[in-house]
Amino acid sequence: MNAGAGAQRYEETYAAWQRDPEGFWAEAARGIAWERAPERVFDPSLGVYGRWFPGGRLNTCFNAVDRHVAAGRGEQAAILYDSPMTGRIEALSYAALQRRVSKLAGALAALGVGRGDRVVIYMPMVPEAALAMLACARLGAIHSVVFGGFAAAELAARIADAKPKAILSASCGLEPGRVVAYKPLLDAAIALSPHKPEACLILQRPEHPCALTPGRDRDFLEAEAEGAPHPCVPVEATDPLYILYTSGTTGKPKGILRDNGGHAVALHNSMGMVYGVGAGDVFWAASDVGWVVGHSYIVYGPLLAGCTSVLYEGKPVGTPDAGAFWRVSAQHGVKVLFAAPTAIRAIKKEDPQGALLARHDLSRLEALYLAGERCDPDTAIWAHKLLNKPVVDHWWQTETGWAITGGFRGLGLFPMRPGSGGKAAPGYAVVALDEAGREVPRGQIGSLAVRLPLPPSCLPTLWQADDRFRESYLEAFPGHYNTGDAGMIDEEGYVWVMSRTDDIINVAGHRLSTGAMEEVLASHPDVAECAVVGVKDSLKGQVPLGLVVLKAGAAKGEAEIARELAAMVRERIGPVAAFREARVVSRLPKTRSGKILRATLRKIADGEDYVVPPTIDDPAILEEMEATLRAAMR
Ligand code: COA
Ligand code: AMP
Repeated sequence: MNAGAGAQRYEETYAAWQRDPEGFWAEAARGIAWERAPERVFDPSLGVYGRWFPGGRLNTCFNAVDRHVAAGRGEQAAILYDSPMTGRIEALSYAALQRRVSKLAGALAALGVGRGDRVVIYMPMVPEAALAMLACARLGAIHSVVFGGFAAAELAARIADAKPKAILSASCGLEPGRVVAYKPLLDAAIALSPHKPEACLILQRPEHPCALTPGRDRDFLEAEAEGAPHPCVPVEATDPLYILYTSGTTGKPKGILRDNGGHAVALHNSMGMVYGVGAGDVFWAASDVGWVVGHSYIVYGPLLAGCTSVLYEGKPVGTPDAGAFWRVSAQHGVKVLFAAPTAIRAIKKEDPQGALLARHDLSRLEALYLAGERCDPDTAIWAHKLLNKPVVDHWWQTETGWAITGGFRGLGLFPMRPGSGGKAAPGYAVVALDEAGREVPRGQIGSLAVRLPLPPSCLPTLWQADDRFRESYLEAFPGHYNTGDAGMIDEEGYVWVMSRTDDIINVAGHRLSTGAMEEVLASHPDVAECAVVGVKDSLKGQVPLGLVVLKAGAAKGEAEIARELAAMVRERIGPVAAFREARVVSRLPKTRSGKILRATLRKIADGEDYVVPPTIDDPAILEEMEATLRAAMR
């Protein structure tokens, strides 16, 4: 697969950004409607490492909704809700979106929600989830969306940290063969959290309505219907738009903060530059609003650019079959589809010859973008052969909100080299560093880092935790943001992202902390010590495996303890952790001072070469680990 014919445009644009970063972003900022123009493009003296567009005032919801109505796009579909889970397909025009969002904002304002207040959103993949986010943006309130696959304790941790004035939720989510009753989870989370919201709006879904808690809950749709249309509230460019919690190395999630100005500029710019789409095009990110991909490319990016965004409540397989992605793409005229490699692997497994794809007219689909985890070359090549369209891998993180590296249809650079995450996006100076912070030669693996400042939309800090932000990301390599990923940059500038350097694993495109799972396992009365590692899985990329050492005299059998551990992780973290297996081992590899050698375990699990650490207390244990981990791989 070669780069697109016009790849020179990419090189020129990247060079133009390098020569004049502020000029590049000043130009991009022209794509946004400002209530007051920024005083500066970037001010290095503000915040932890500088702030983008200080002095500027804008409203993100105005840019995503109202201005398109004013420009004559009112009748165009803004959101196409396609739900094989309920059999519903509905289009919400920009005009309808404006009406509904302004009334919902009015309902929230009536509850006392205003600029700077936090609102937690715990909702399934329904249009009301996007409405909720936009209504907060309209008021200058800060939303924090929590993924539906998390358990009550995880939701509680986010409520406790964000201290929301209100929570917007639904009576249920729908998983294949299972209704996920949200209300008991919400009630349990509120009970667990020391902070209590003043009010909740609950969307009653006909599939499983719930009883509302008097004095606290209101019916979402009734409140919306009664809401007085609320205008957009201009906020500072540097004001927070949202907090999105993501897995860190400990059980305490990190509150990634996104500002209004930089986010709007970068996301709007990315639609054309990265994906090559613009106003009127249909864009589909097959993700969930609970993840960053959902924030950036189901809601904000496509709407800021005046696209039609598909919001899909279903799975790649089983709803009803492995042709679902192709059916949705064909039926709605999707121009660019964005999915996780794991979803493509699931489709490939069920329909390797593409028989289901052949039933659909995909002539309007121009490219498939992949992200969320490393894509194995086989899967990228399979999709490319089948679709006969560019299959473009791009690498990014919750922290950045948009691609760090990738292919850029808008700049003529596509498709990609299978296995590589593409070239650095204009805005990012990506380097591979050794432990001392020196750049490693091209082609050698190092820690992937980005020279400061990070471009607009990337986290300016963590929610109310500047010190944790510095410690987690800036201290390892002074002057750089440490991505936590390891990889190499080749002679031509392609970046190959290989693995994480910390305790984060990627399960079916979902980012999870092994540290958080270890905290759960360690709380079992029969567990003396434990480690959780991600082992290779041919469908999900990685799955967590618990290695546990039992206390002497544990009364229960190993199988029973393993079952209890799986149930505990599901109960405390959620089904999304997909923790199914714990194996009892005689001991864990440790240093002589008693520290578990997690990095060595990770290398064994990744099938990488490793050096036996000189500090290990008992090298023979590594053989047992290798055998256990190899046996667990699928
Ligand atoms: N609410 C409640 N539960 C959820 C959920 C949600 N929003 N999302 C997932 N879960 C549950 C699932 O029902 C499943 O529960 P189970 O243990 O009772 O079966 C569990 O969490 C694990 O889900 P998942 O990892 O999705 O595995 P799966 O076997 O159900 O499906 C795939 C496998 C590959 C089809 C699926 O993982 C997938 O579509 N992945 C793509 C992920 C994606 O798009 N990520 C976006 C990042 S870009
Ligand atoms: P998240 O914050 O959930 O988006 O997860 C970010 C992490 O997923 C990154 O740090 C990588 O480890 C991994 N990741 C995302 N996209 C890619 C990609 N295209 N290639 C390799 N790894 C990726």
